[in-house]
Amino acid sequence: MIGKARAGFEVSITGLGVNVPERIVTNDELAQHVDTNDEWIRERTGIRERRMAGQNEALSDIALPACRDALAQAGLDAKDIDLLIVATVTPDMMFPSTGAILADLLGAHDAAAYDMTAGCTGFVYALAQAYGMIAGGLSKKALVVGGDLLSKLLDWGDRSTLVLFGDGAGAVVLEPVDEQGFLGFELGADGGGGEHLWLPGSGSRHFDEPEKAIKMNGREVFKFATRVLVQSAEDILSRCEVTKEDVDVYVPHQANVRIIDHATKKLGFPSDKVVVNVERYGNTSSGSIPLALRDGIDDGRIRTGSLVLMTGMGAGLTWGSALLRWTL
Ligand code: ACO
Repeated sequence: MIGKARAGFEVSITGLGVNVPERIVTNDELAQHVDTNDEWIRERTGIRERRMAGQNEALSDIALPACRDALAQAGLDAKDIDLLIVATVTPDMMFPSTGAILADLLGAHDAAAYDMTAGCTGFVYALAQAYGMIAGGLSKKALVVGGDLLSKLLDWGDRSTLVLFGDGAGAVVLEPVDEQGFLGFELGADGGGGEHLWLPGSGSRHFDEPEKAIKMNGREVFKFATRVLVQSAEDILSRCEVTKEDVDVYVPHQANVRIIDHATKKLGFPSDKVVVNVERYGNTSSGSIPLALRDGIDDGRIRTGSLVLMTGMGAGLTWGSALLRWTL
């Protein structure tokens, strides 16, 4: 799916909040559980540390402060929100949805609230959904949450996945604005490749030996990721008639610094246009792009008027890009 934003009707991000668990887990700490070491992890992934939630913390606990900060920046009260979407593969539980839980905790009593799943691309998918509902006249003010606690799905005996993931969440407010906001979206899925990154036994399909942990074919996911990050970015730029040179800031999904470097080089973006924070957080799945937006703002690269290209990819397999003129 690919589309340009509705002409003459602008929608943008008017508030952003992020939050991560307090506990920092270093590579050395993981090396106490599996046969790995700090040097291997840094060289192959760029990750130095990640955050991990405590046993009694669920996604709604981590996402709630991010939602409050996003609402505060937008100058809104929760009761102004009529749509709350949570993109995640690690909801508090299958039902009630984390969207409904957050709407209740925030006091967003007039909001349609639900969860949606598109792997690590979830945040970009949810942005597109919220944009569509606002542009279609169904919603006036939406809160979009992207967050995951993938530490809850880790196999502490599998070194090929244990070192990659971390926990975190972000939230953004979307609403109509006067100046240019979203320019367009590109979203895709390839279920045929789904077996390369999966959680068998987590739903209605029966497995004799259901898994409680992420299963991943790292090399296949690596190849997929490098391909779609480039393709999706090129497709959305072309559809929106924008050149690579026009892009001020590139915010890719933070899975592995080598994947990001590969895409950045192929796309021809200078490194100072690319937000990278995987070294501090690891791969936080749907939390990754909002956490990177926060860092891009804090280091001064994302500012009013910046053309921001976000591209995610992940389980499904899925991918997606959003192109946005930053209005905050
Ligand atoms: N420490 C030490 N050695 C390791 C580790 C580790 N943590 N993990 C794997 N190895 C070993 C392997 O066992 C292998 O050993 P062998 O040669 O004796 O068999 C060796 O290192 C090389 O393994 P490769 O898989 O070839 O290593 P590679 O350079 O491809 O790096 C990695 C592995 C980091 C998993 C890489 O393939 C990758 O990043 N893939 C993409 C993963 C990803 O991004 N997933 C999520 C994306 S989607 C989403 O965000 C949900």
